[in-house]
Amino acid sequence: IPDFAAVDESVTLARLAGHAKWASLANGLLRGYLRQSNKIVFPDAKAEPERFLSVVYSHPLWLVKMWVRQFGFDQTELLCQADNQPAPLSLRVNLLLISSQRFAQELTQRGIGFQRSIVPDFFTIHDLPYPLQIAFLTKGWVTVQDESAGLPNLLFRGQAGQVLLDLCAAPGGKCGHMAERSGDRCPVIAMDLQPGRTRLIRSLVTRLGLRSVQVVTANALQAPLRSADVVLLDAPCSGLGVLRRKPDLRWRRRLADIALLLQLQKKLLHQAAGLVAKNGVLVYSTCTIHPPENQEMIAWFLHAHPGWALQRAEETEVPASCVSADGFVETWPHRHGMDGSFAAKLQKL
Ligand SMILES: C[S@@+](CC[C@H](N)C(=O)[O-])C[C@H]1O[C@@H](n2cnc3c(N)ncnc32)[C@H](O)[C@@H]1O
Repeated sequence: IPDFAAVDESVTLARLAGHAKWASLANGLLRGYLRQSNKIVFPDAKAEPERFLSVVYSHPLWLVKMWVRQFGFDQTELLCQADNQPAPLSLRVNLLLISSQRFAQELTQRGIGFQRSIVPDFFTIHDLPYPLQIAFLTKGWVTVQDESAGLPNLLFRGQAGQVLLDLCAAPGGKCGHMAERSGDRCPVIAMDLQPGRTRLIRSLVTRLGLRSVQVVTANALQAPLRSADVVLLDAPCSGLGVLRRKPDLRWRRRLADIALLLQLQKKLLHQAAGLVAKNGVLVYSTCTIHPPENQEMIAWFLHAHPGWALQRAEETEVPASCVSADGFVETWPHRHGMDGSFAAKLQKL
C-alpha cells in the first residue's frame, strides 16, 4: 500500500469515527512520521530489552515486563510478533447439518483453498468471499470460531441422559459446539448475565437449528438451578491470548482489572463446583495466557476444594500438541497459530 493511500484512508477513517480534529491529528502524526521515519531511533535490544520489545512490537511496557518475567525474552518477542499478525478466518462445521467431508468438497468445488485444523471439524480459510461466508452462516453450516475455542469441549462429550451447563455462555460459541457434539440430544443450559448477550445466544441457537439449548439470563453466582453432569465455566478473563484479534485490547487492559478478574474467577469457580452432580465434571477455560488466571487458578481450586482431581487432557480427545506438560489444554499464538487459551478438566470424586 503506498504511503499516500495509507495516510488518506486513515485520515478518512479518523473523520468518520470521530470528527475533523481527529482527522487533522491523524494527518499531522502520519505525515510527520513519513518525514522523519528514517531518523527514528529504536531502543537498543541489549541495553533496554523490554523497552525495545514494547516500542518495536507496539505492546504496553507493563505487559512486556510481565511477560519477560513470566516467559523470558525470546518467547515474549515471538508472542509480540504473533500478536501483530492478522488472525486467519477459522470456521467450525455444524455436524448436525453437514459433514466435514462434504464441507471440504463444497470449498474445493468453488476453488477455495483451506486447511483442516488439528481440532476436529475446524477449517482455516484465507480467501473466503464474503457472500459465500454469509451463505454458509445462513444455512447454519458453520460458526466463526478460533480453533482454540473448540478445545475445551474436546475434554468431554455429553452422554445420553446427562445435563450440560454453560455458565458464562454468551455469545454462544462453545455452547453451540457442546450441543452439536452431543448430537443435540443432551439438554444444554446456556446462562449469561447480560440480557443483550443472551439474545446473541438465542439467535446463534436458531441459526444452527439446535433444539437442546435452553437460554437463561442469570448471574452464575446465584444460578437458579440445582446441578448438572458437566459444567463449563468459560470465565471472563484478561483476554491476553486474543490480542491479535482485538488490537485495541492491549492498550485498554490494566493490571488492576486483572486483579478484579482473578477475584471474580475464584468466586465463579467455587460456585460452579457447587453445581456439579456426583461423579460430574467441571471444565474451566479462558482465552488468556496469564498463569494466575490459568494454572495458578487451578492450583488454588484443587487446594481449596478437596474431593476434586485434575483429569489430564491427554486422556481426552484434545490433540497432543495442545496439551501442556502438566495436563492442561494450552495454546499460544506463536506456537500453535491459534489464539492463546487454557482449559482444565476437573473431576468430582
Ligand atoms: C469469555 S465470555 C464467554 C464466551 C462464550 N463461552 C463463548 O464461547 O461464546 C465470558 C462471559 O461471561 C459472562 N459473565 C460475566 N460474569 C458473569 C456472571 N456473574 N454470571 C454469568 N455470566 C457472566 C459475560 O457476560 C461474558 O459473556
